[in-house]
Amino acid sequence: MSKGLHTPSLCLLNNPTDMIDHKKVYQQEGAQYQRLVDREDYRENLLPALEKILTFKGLDVLDLGSGTGRLAHLLAPHVRSVHALDLSPHMLGVAAERLRNQDLGNWQVTAGDHRCLPLEDNSVDLVVSGWSICYLVVWEDKKWKGELESALLEIRRVLRPEGKIIIIETLGTGNELPEEPDKLREYFGFLEHKGFQRSWIRTDYRFDSHREARELVDFFFGKEMLNNIGKEPQPILPECTGIWWQRLREIRETCRSSNGVKI
Ligand SMILES: C[S@@+](CC[C@H](N)C(=O)[O-])C[C@H]1O[C@@H](n2cnc3c(N)ncnc32)[C@H](O)[C@@H]1O
Repeated sequence: MSKGLHTPSLCLLNNPTDMIDHKKVYQQEGAQYQRLVDREDYRENLLPALEKILTFKGLDVLDLGSGTGRLAHLLAPHVRSVHALDLSPHMLGVAAERLRNQDLGNWQVTAGDHRCLPLEDNSVDLVVSGWSICYLVVWEDKKWKGELESALLEIRRVLRPEGKIIIIETLGTGNELPEEPDKLREYFGFLEHKGFQRSWIRTDYRFDSHREARELVDFFFGKEMLNNIGKEPQPILPECTGIWWQRLREIRETCRSSNGVKI
């Protein structure tokens, strides 16, 4: 298996012929996307990593850019309520079906944008966002900093005073060690400049067969990523995942000390 040789995920490929249209995936191909993410984190590292950051019991959670509900579904059994929000009603349809099948009744889904949240002020304890805020950087190109600032302002508005934000992003698909994708490096630096702490984990994919691996990896990451699939009978594609987190109180303190203005 090669080590971090390939372009990291989100298909930030330089070669336009291998560029996957993720907008189309999120508008039309939610079921296939869910088949792929269902294979990720086969060692189940994500939940314990999040539990190191905070205790979920009794929390009202907003999952921003929930997609087919990976994080909402993971957290629903551990929290008081989970609100899944995404730009794509199509993705939310898949999320709702999965959450309904969990039979917990503590969830809702709403279409909306990171930069304009359809929620009351001070209404959630935790905002979590997985592999989604990065699209403000990828899709908004030169405007990304302003768009990200708008999203962070909205997140602060809806968080209760003791609230926390957790942002999860790729540190490389096909990588055994973390490597910041070129396109996201400035964004990650921006978060850390704002006082976010970072950790990382492996969330490798494991597929049932080589056929399935090729189909799903090609679908989302493109042909070039096929070279990184392992040779095992149940092939593995390594994935490094970064986790950034911050308390709302810390954000307020950072703002006060950096420019003297209370937000
Ligand atoms: C890679 S998927 C991640 C989905 C899910 N969080 C997961 O862990 O599988 C990215 C999702 O972000 C959503 N998204 C992208 N930009 C968004 C925005 N500005 N506001 C809300 N959702 C957005 C997309 O519609 C898509 O469902």
